[in-house]
Amino acid sequence: METLRTIARVPITVKRRVLVPTMGALHRGHLELIRIAREAAGKEGEVAASIFVNPLQFAPGGDYEKYPRPETDDEEFCRSAGVDILFRPSLDVMYAADFSIAIEENSLSTALCGKSRPGHFRGVCTVVAKLFHVLVPDAAVFGEKDFQQLAIIRRMVRDLNFQIEIIGAPTVRESDGLACSSRNQYLSATERQQAPVLRAALAEGARVAAGGERSASAIIATARKVIDMSPLARLDYLELVNADTLQPLEIVQPNSLIALAVFFGQTRLIDNIRLS
Ligand code: PAF
Repeated sequence: METLRTIARVPITVKRRVLVPTMGALHRGHLELIRIAREAAGKEGEVAASIFVNPLQFAPGGDYEKYPRPETDDEEFCRSAGVDILFRPSLDVMYAADFSIAIEENSLSTALCGKSRPGHFRGVCTVVAKLFHVLVPDAAVFGEKDFQQLAIIRRMVRDLNFQIEIIGAPTVRESDGLACSSRNQYLSATERQQAPVLRAALAEGARVAAGGERSASAIIATARKVIDMSPLARLDYLELVNADTLQPLEIVQPNSLIALAVFFGQTRLIDNIRLS
């Protein structure tokens, strides 16, 4: 594996390159993204991963400073996962001191997490566009846990004519249903015990929908009751939306999704489920 810290050293290649952008603190979810990238790259292709904790997507006073940065472990993780190129730039390599251009998506970003994290997706789009320019991948893999992020990246690729295939990867879960996330390590033991309530609430919503309930408010109320059973969970949002537009629905449609964000203390966890 080649580790690159500067843009100038990124090799130009004729091989099919598939990128896995990350912020590090790698876990089983990332391993699956890398596996999917390897499959998409094919035998002759190469897998690139990036590790960069992007300040632009954190709120002032958010967890940017304390975001975990286990550099040596992450590098070893990538090596043993079969990554060919690891790009891990420093802040000044990615952003000039007088950096003054950003990319803003103005529709999907206003929904769900966009309401409670203003500027977050602007930061994500900007850094992902920069990673695309630097690493010039043919395809890039993003997790479906961050469903809104995936939808916004697809929109950016479409609207800005990036010639890059965006591959969505199914959410990887712990044995109790909690979606794998770098932020799970912030949870105290009691919070960790209660955190599977996100998945349980979504599953309950999906269950009543599959049983014939069509009213979004009834489905949301059912899911909410599950969250309310967990004393440490503080709901940020719980919505039933159209999976393409991310706009709230009153009645379940063929392409519906329940998405939620829940705080445990300062830790904000997200998850979602598609309704069939
Ligand atoms: O999902 C993430 O880890 C980040 O938002 C991403 C896509 C690497 C951009 O910083």
